[in-house]
Order: sequence, then C-alpha cells, then structure tokens
Amino acid sequence: MNAANNDTPIDFEIVNDKIRELNVPVVGKATIREIKRLVDNIESASGKKFIRMEMGVPGLPPAQVGTDAEIEALQRGVAAIYPDIDGIPVLKKEVSLFVKNFLNIDVDAAGCIPTVGSMQGGFAAFMTLSRMNKEKDTTLFIDPGFPVHKQQHRVMGLKYDSFDVYEYRGEKLRAKLESYFAKGNIHSVLYSNPNNPSWICFNDEELKIIGDLANQYNVVILEDLAYFGMDFRKDYSKPGVPPYQPTVAKYTDNYILLISSSKAFSYAGQRIGMMVISDKLFNSTSDDLLRNYTSNQFGRAMIFGTVYSLSSGTAHSAQYALAAILKAANEGKFNFVEEVKEYGEKAKIMKKLFVDNGFRIVYDKDIDQPIADGFYFTIMYPGFDGPDLIGELLYYGISAISLTITGSEHTEGLRACVSLVKRTQFPDLEYRLKKFHEHHPVV
Ligand SMILES: Cc1ncc(COP(=O)(O)O)c(C=O)c1O
Repeated sequence: MNAANNDTPIDFEIVNDKIRELNVPVVGKATIREIKRLVDNIESASGKKFIRMEMGVPGLPPAQVGTDAEIEALQRGVAAIYPDIDGIPVLKKEVSLFVKNFLNIDVDAAGCIPTVGSMQGGFAAFMTLSRMNKEKDTTLFIDPGFPVHKQQHRVMGLKYDSFDVYEYRGEKLRAKLESYFAKGNIHSVLYSNPNNPSWICFNDEELKIIGDLANQYNVVILEDLAYFGMDFRKDYSKPGVPPYQPTVAKYTDNYILLISSSKAFSYAGQRIGMMVISDKLFNSTSDDLLRNYTSNQFGRAMIFGTVYSLSSGTAHSAQYALAAILKAANEGKFNFVEEVKEYGEKAKIMKKLFVDNGFRIVYDKDIDQPIADGFYFTIMYPGFDGPDLIGELLYYGISAISLTITGSEHTEGLRACVSLVKRTQFPDLEYRLKKFHEHHPVV
C-alpha cells in the first residue's frame, strides 16, 4: 500500500526524498535513532511538525527538589570528591525507605546502590549474575522488552533467551517459565512492569508464579521498574499506605529491582537510577564468583568488582538530587505519581483517536482488564505489517517504532510513546489519522 494519491498531510515528495537519503532498505526497520534523524530532516524540509511518538524520553520538567539539591551540592564542592562506590549513605538510607514506603518491602541500605541510570544497573546485574554459577549462563527475557538490554548482552558476549508473554498471561505463565528454568541454564529473568513497550502490568497472581519459580529453581528475578507507580488505574502514590506498586519481592527474596529516575522523576539527563538487591542475594556466596572477583559474596562482587570497574560509582551531585527527591516522596511532600499522570491522560485521548480511525490496540488487555493508559501503547492497522505502517505513517506526519525490535511476535504492531506529543497537537493528530483512514479504507 502507498500514499498513492499524494494528497498527504506532509509533502509526498519531501518524504520520499528524505527516505531515499536515509539509504536503508526498509525505512520501518531503521533503528529508533535513525527514525528520529529522518523525522528531524522531514520536519525541517517541510516546515511541518510531526506527532513524534518514536522516542521514550520524558516530556515533563525534572523534579524541582532534585535540581535544587543538586545545585546546592555542587556549590558545596562535591564535584571535587569521589563518592562512595556503593552510594552516599544519605541516599542509600532514602532508597531503603522508599522501597519500604512504596513497595512495602524491607531491604538493608547496603543493598541499595545508585547506578548511572537504570541502564547501568542492568549491565552490572547481567555481568555479575552471569558469573555466579558456572552452570547458569543465560538470561531469560519476558518480552516484549527494552531492546538495549539485549544489546548489553551482545556487547558483553552473554547468552539470552526470550519469549513473548502475550499468549502466556495468568496461570499459563507457570508452565512457560518452567520450560526454561528446567533446563538449568537460566541465572536470571528480566521483565519490566509496567512493560515497555506494551504497557501490560503483571498482577499479583503472575508475580507470585514468577517468585515461586524463582525460589524453586534458584533463579534471580530482575524486576525493571522503569515506570514505577505509573499504572494509574491504582493510586500507588501514598508513602506507607496500600495499595503498593506490585512487586515480585513479595514472593521471593531472590531479586534485584532496577528503579529508574528517568520517567517517574523526569530525571533522565542526570543518569541516575537505583539497583536494589535483596538482603538474601546480597549476602549469598558462590565460589564460582572467584573466577572473576576477589570476593565470593554477591554484594561485594557487585560493588567492588562490577560497579567499581564500570564507573567507580555514580555522579556525586546527582546522588544528592535523588536523595532529596526520595526524601520528599518518603515524607509525602512530593507526589511523584501525580506529576506524571499527564502521560496516562494523554494516552487515553490518543488511543481513542487511533481506534476511532481504524487502528487497533495490539496488547489490549491485562488478562481480563483493559490495558492501562500510560507512557506507551501499541497499535496496528489492518492490512499492514509494522515496518510498512511506519513508512506509510511518515507521509501523515506521525512517527513511531516497530514492535519487531522489542522481541514481540506481533510484527504488525508499533509502539507509540505519548510523552513528546503536546495536547495542542491533538487536532493535528486527529486530522492526520482521518486522512490516513480515508486513504486506507478497512475492508
Ligand atoms: C524498560 C526500561 N528499562 C530501563 C530503562 C533505562 O532507564 P534509565 O534512563 O534509568 O537508564 C528504560 C528507559 O527508557 C526503560 O524503558
């Protein structure tokens, strides 16, 4: 299919030229950064703004309390001093309190370690866990997922396996996970909750299945909470008061939580996240670690082996920022969930515009409940595969990425991120979707 009649919201020839200049075989299979560059080029050549849904970047100002604390720390001169590798004590204490207040779990401050973004937390976890037990050399991803985690495996030369969870929700997850765990080579499992890209959220039944199997097979669960508290169907914003953000940590003590500051606190630029290691895992020992580390204790190997080697800790001033953000959240003075609710509200409106114009939501349910409105949603259009749909939508001034790069089996699907789309663009979005629908009647 093609925008053949040329009557497209963005000049047909300009889009053609810019796609040609990109010089890739299928535009819809380009990387996120390539799509970004292409859209930048089309925007500047056409003078028209796109509905930009390709990048998962925060679209809100950073948490002010963090910026203030960071400026103050810099003025005090912390930039001159190496911070402790495992984090400044005041931050470690606030992280431990934060997980108590918002997840209702107890973790010693020793296992609460700031990392250079949650991205580095993942890297460090994969690196250390893959050396912990010589029989266990493979990570399992519950997909769809964040492609960079797999890239981390490739650059480290580590093994991974994965499956799309779409058909394995609820009790069906048990047998599927067990089929991997029973092989004996899986050291850890990673999933994000809420999920990037599909925004599915595991419920407690599913988290219990994951936790129970982690106990039974001695597998570590890496729970990626990049979108902490952002399932807006429930209010997880009150410290020390239920409901709490659901977590596998209620069902196993074999876990690492990766908590990002990027989206929940709009603090992506300072590259600071939290790695929270359960007390049991932190203190556990394995002589196999001695192949690469001087300590056989997991926590020590992680801190003085991996984190030290990677970056000798995390920027000093950003640690003060995060400590101040968490302190304000812990004391109920900063409602971080309220701050980011705007994403969910925009998603609700945008999803309706898409659905009203012939699109369908790909990951549309959490078992029996409609999917929540949040940072991302997934779409498809009858008759298109994902990469072709991306290419075609460019003529309509809409950009997104293909689900194929996320490990999803739904190759017809796209991921749409709401963060950069302004409410003032909704009339444009509606007009462009109507045109698309008109040009591509669903039979
Ligand atoms: C699922 C997921 N995990 C991890 C990250 C990385 O977070 P950070 O910016 O803290 O490195 C992201 C960022 O988009 C993400 O979507």
